[in-house]
Amino acid sequence: MIVRDANHADVATIAKLHAEQISEGFLPTLGQPFLERLYRRILKGPDTFALVAAEEDLLLGFAAGAREIGALYRRFLIHDGIIAGLRAAPKLMRSLPRVIETLRYPSGDAELPSAEILAVAVTTVAQGQGVGRALVSEATTRLELLGANDIKVVTGADNAAALALYRACGFTTCAHLAVHAGATSEVLVWTAP
Ligand SMILES: CC(C)(COP(=O)(O)OP(=O)(O)OC[C@H]1O[C@@H](n2cnc3c(N)ncnc32)[C@H](O)[C@@H]1OP(=O)(O)O)[C@@H](O)C(=O)NCCC(=O)NCCS
Repeated sequence: MIVRDANHADVATIAKLHAEQISEGFLPTLGQPFLERLYRRILKGPDTFALVAAEEDLLLGFAAGAREIGALYRRFLIHDGIIAGLRAAPKLMRSLPRVIETLRYPSGDAELPSAEILAVAVTTVAQGQGVGRALVSEATTRLELLGANDIKVVTGADNAAALALYRACGFTTCAHLAVHAGATSEVLVWTAP
């Protein structure tokens, strides 16, 4: 298995994997074209990245990170907001309360690190074999190289696999958030040694 930078040919598979594996947050509810646009924007950013774990042509998982999560959201809204919004409009309207809560959380918690691992997912067949650990470890290294001393991840308080993965990679819980009404999320932070 290798972990490498994602390229544009990987975007559709990454978006599909995100939609299939990550039920947290409102992003998966907005559909594949919206997610593809978001991941294309992540690939273009100077301080954002997507990594894939692959065995030859088979994609086993991906991770995405941003040095400044707020800057990524701003760039996405400026460059992709209208098109992504129009495409997702009916779903966006249905999930509007969750959208507002999610957009509010990054700026509402000034003390949390701005660097973030945005998403990690591994295909069902490849889970439990160290793929997630390899992706999180490389994402942490990349964010460190981009100048981050502290990195956060946000995941559902009931997502045992994700919590175990992040803890195994040195993250510790620093806050609980009600990001989405009725669902508690855990914020875990990694600090450079
Ligand atoms: C979370 C996820 C990425 C973990 O990937 P993975 O490749 O299966 O994880 P790894 O095999 O690298 O395991 C890493 C550590 O987590 C632990 N772990 C993984 N899955 C676990 C589970 N279901 N229950 C308990 N511990 C688990 C492993 O034991 C391992 O710890 P160890 O090395 O100390 O034994 C994967 O389960 C997944 O894709 N889930 C759906 C998407 C998701 O929820 N993403 C996170 C939110 S963005």
